[in-house]
Amino acid sequence: MPLSPEEEEAIRREFEASRKSGHEEKAADQGPQFFEQSPKSNIQHVVGVVSGKGGVGKSLVCGMLAVELKRRGYRVGILDADLTGPSIPKMFGLSGVHATAWDNLLMPSETVGGIKIMSANLVLENETDPVIWRGPVVAGALQQFWSQCAWGDLDFLLIDMPPGTSDVALTVFQSLPIEGIVIVSTPQDLVQMVVGKAVKMAAMMDIPVFGIVENMSYVECPDCGKRIEPFGPSKLAETAELYGIDVLGRLPMTGDFARMCDCGAIETALPEDLLPDAVLKIETVAAFFDDANSTD
Ligand SMILES: Nc1ncnc2c1ncn2[C@@H]1O[C@H](COP(=O)(O)OP(=O)(O)OP(=O)(O)O)[C@@H](O)[C@H]1O
Ligand SMILES: [Mg+2]
Repeated sequence: MPLSPEEEEAIRREFEASRKSGHEEKAADQGPQFFEQSPKSNIQHVVGVVSGKGGVGKSLVCGMLAVELKRRGYRVGILDADLTGPSIPKMFGLSGVHATAWDNLLMPSETVGGIKIMSANLVLENETDPVIWRGPVVAGALQQFWSQCAWGDLDFLLIDMPPGTSDVALTVFQSLPIEGIVIVSTPQDLVQMVVGKAVKMAAMMDIPVFGIVENMSYVECPDCGKRIEPFGPSKLAETAELYGIDVLGRLPMTGDFARMCDCGAIETALPEDLLPDAVLKIETVAAFFDDANSTD
């Protein structure tokens, strides 16, 4: 549903305020914690995709948003910050691919459709090798994926966050200029509670929440098209209201999505226009920042 003029104005005000007190100050305040972009990167907008807990479809939603933004003509990248459970390369058919380096900078791998990707799986010798890095090494890897990676010109860099409110999530929130986050959930009660953790963490870090996507929300009967809700009635509206955040869409549980991810075919097999409200929100906020920057 398109945003009303009042909603647009409210977002504009909210982001103007956060822009003024936000990124520049954050960079100055947090000194070395704030990662600098590499000299070969020109990234305009950074959006995180998070969830309170694992396995809810965060990587799927991150991949979907990237594909949809790319289809709309934007230059898009994904930084897979889920270092211990990276799944983005496989979803995009980059299993077994290794990132290269040039002039001391990592080069992101590119999907068939031209989405740039950096992930721990692209730098491991073997993608089934476990990542058993300790905290400082993890933070170092994230820094390399941001500061020592030649991303080139990107309109959007999406960050597939590790599940939950871990140390890595904290490092990403503190160190990268995240414009906002999309929260992914499923319809169980437990998930509603952990959504609260993600919302509160974002608030503590001064990061705007774009809204919430409910994944595995329903199953569509292949014969009559009736929607069945295997986890019980959707909690989306209730959760959004509870935490004062926007609803950005519902996705069905379907074998098509699971197969698409398993076969690395998300770019080619994804149906058109699946999360229009989420994409619109990302575009709208980005346009506000662009306007604000052009009038500085
Ligand atoms: N709507 C859906 N319908 C069917 N399968 C789905 C759906 N969403 C996700 N899956 C499948 O569930 C599994 C978990 O999804 P995904 O990897 O996106 O979750 P995640 O939240 O990123 O998990 P993790 O916390 O481990 O990073 C994948 O195999 C994916 O293909
Ligand atoms: Mg994941």
